[in-house]
Amino acid sequence: MAENDRTMPPALSPEAALRWLIEMGADEAIADAPIDRFAAPAPAQQTTHPPTETAAHPSPAASRAAPAPARPAVAASPDLVAPAQGAADASSAAAAAKTLDELREAVGAFEGCALKFTAMNTVFSDGHPDSAVMFVGEAPGVEEDRQGKPFVGASGKLLDQMLAPIGLARGEHGDKGAYISNILFWRPPGNRSPTTAEIAACMPFIQRHIELVSPKVLVYLGGTAAKTMLDRKEGIMRLRGKWYEHYSSRLDAPIPAIATFHPAYLLRQPGQKRESWCDLLNLRFKLNEITNNN
Ligand code: URA
Repeated sequence: MAENDRTMPPALSPEAALRWLIEMGADEAIADAPIDRFAAPAPAQQTTHPPTETAAHPSPAASRAAPAPARPAVAASPDLVAPAQGAADASSAAAAAKTLDELREAVGAFEGCALKFTAMNTVFSDGHPDSAVMFVGEAPGVEEDRQGKPFVGASGKLLDQMLAPIGLARGEHGDKGAYISNILFWRPPGNRSPTTAEIAACMPFIQRHIELVSPKVLVYLGGTAAKTMLDRKEGIMRLRGKWYEHYSSRLDAPIPAIATFHPAYLLRQPGQKRESWCDLLNLRFKLNEITNNN
């Protein structure tokens, strides 16, 4: 075999190259033309700077006068512009919503979270709002983004399978119902973790969502949802399996809340299903207790 044959990587077919890109998380086309971020910058334009000026330290006047170098057009995103303003807008829009339909509309009209600009759909909720239990996950994945519904991909299928043995289903309502949403309404590109600013921008909506649904019990799915909703720094290993209370001045009483593993984590770590089953039984006992006391 020639030396070159041993050292050259095998040529990828277009299908294999595309599959590789998708596996690496590059599964969204967010601009019409590719951006070569490794390309050398275009040579500086001729300007009339005084001789003492350097390119690294142009005078303020020169900064104003020199034409801006060509840059690829990037849609202005509120996350880049004013994250705090995004959260403030969300607070007033969420507080103004008197019904779930109004809240859904307010979320759809909200432009204060950068994720909206790369997502295909707004993913609000699934299940009956009069369900006893409200599940709060992290953010839509690729399938949820496509369908505009939470937990419809592989982890959603596992979630449905986990709920059935404790008598809960998203197709049911009342004491048998499961209502499902996320702390974020838009898919982070490439399924990356959401940023603090993105979570903060959406937080007033999820708080209002909980107030309007007013479930008997809340379940936080996974570390990001649990840490956000409980305002804690510990990971899911420490937070799961215990009862907390969710407070809001607009609720008649605090809502019992429990955190458990995210089904996507259970798909990767099936050995943890045992702990997860304990959390689900815990949830079932709590629901029975609440129902029997009413
Ligand atoms: N993971 C989540 O946290 N939410 C979804 O809707 C889907 C996957």
